[in-house]
Amino acid sequence: MTSPRIVGVGMTDFGVHERPLVELFADAAFAAFDDAGVEGGEIDAFYLGNAMGGQTERDTHLAPTLASHVGLAGIPCQRYEDACATSSNAFKHAVRAVESGRHDVVLVGGVERCTPATGLGTPEMTAVFASAAHRQYEQPTGLSFPGVFGLLTTRHMHEHGTTEEDLAAVAVKNHRHGTLNSRAQFGKETTVEEVLDSPLVASPFHLMDCCPFSDGAAAAIVASEEAAASLSGDPVGVAGVGHATDVVPLADKADLTATRSAREAAAQAYEEADIAPDHVDVAEVHDCFTGAEVLAIEALGFVEDGAGGPAAAAGTTALGGEIPVNPSGGLKAKGHPIGATGVAQLVELTEQLRGEAGDRQVADAEYALAHNLGGDAATTVVSVLEVVA
Ligand code: COA
Repeated sequence: MTSPRIVGVGMTDFGVHERPLVELFADAAFAAFDDAGVEGGEIDAFYLGNAMGGQTERDTHLAPTLASHVGLAGIPCQRYEDACATSSNAFKHAVRAVESGRHDVVLVGGVERCTPATGLGTPEMTAVFASAAHRQYEQPTGLSFPGVFGLLTTRHMHEHGTTEEDLAAVAVKNHRHGTLNSRAQFGKETTVEEVLDSPLVASPFHLMDCCPFSDGAAAAIVASEEAAASLSGDPVGVAGVGHATDVVPLADKADLTATRSAREAAAQAYEEADIAPDHVDVAEVHDCFTGAEVLAIEALGFVEDGAGGPAAAAGTTALGGEIPVNPSGGLKAKGHPIGATGVAQLVELTEQLRGEAGDRQVADAEYALAHNLGGDAATTVVSVLEVVA
């Protein structure tokens, strides 16, 4: 089996975009083509992440539509949908297709628009997002995603003594990182007091504990080792990818804080990469809400179970700390255009491993990990990237 590489990456700024999905995606795709030094005719397949285009923009059959817009008509195209883990799942399939020898060079990416630029405001978009919760057991109760993660986090607070101040420190850290990232939606710092004083959304989360609604696109070119050698893009290696699910209804989960899908996906990715958690130098994790980052760093084995709460306040997960988490600003500050988020994490980590991350560069990073979670913590994809000679 060949060893897949990421040879090119590109993304738009995350924030509010008035442009249609095709135009937004084209910006990210063309940036990735240029970065990889690849021509359209050299791309064998296109795997796209888009979770909600049918509901938000009456825009479906998107993979071939976007492919034609960037000059790739004729190749196999496939759209993936897995709630917030959408484009990581597309990435997994691109990696497997290249590993197996089916394709040599694959375009993978994601695009989504979730801001009021779609014509849908906060209540309507909250309802669209809630369609990823269980249709019979959860949607009728009015459970929203701030509510889903609020319940998981409340349980963590009950079991481990995690405090609202601990959670606020995650927002403070990720907003600080976001100021170092010109593509981030929020380029402003915040404080624990400001987070705690912001309006309550779903207990224990205040507005500043939440990721925003965002528009944006991200793209990457995945190539075989042999194909990568003939392209000018600076390659990083794909060391391992894990993908696991849990039962969807919160009420049926064996454990609310241990995030089974993340633990299983991480175990698979670590085994494939032949590394342990302490080999990871930098991580992008799914901090859709501050409490989600706490659960993630425990599931990934960066801290002991129950010890995730104080990690941000202690500086453990900050740039310069033991294990820098979300140097891009994460979903919290960089933004979260659902279908684009997974590949955007890989864009950040590719730049980190190349030494191109500027003011937010983690020195001498050799292994980088992306954790992308979907729905009621029911789907997780964990990817490990590595420096290659
Ligand atoms: N973080 C920081 N600032 C935010 C923010 C966020 N998440 N959301 C909005 N803001 C800011 C806006 O920029 C605006 O600032 P301004 O007054 O300086 O212009 C202000 O707060 C009010 O914005 P508005 O859009 O009116 O807020 P809202 O109350 O309609 O929505 C949330 C705020 C938190 C409810 C909304 O962003 C939300 O639901 N986020 C979660 C999305 C989600 O569930 N994603 C899926 C995760 S699994």
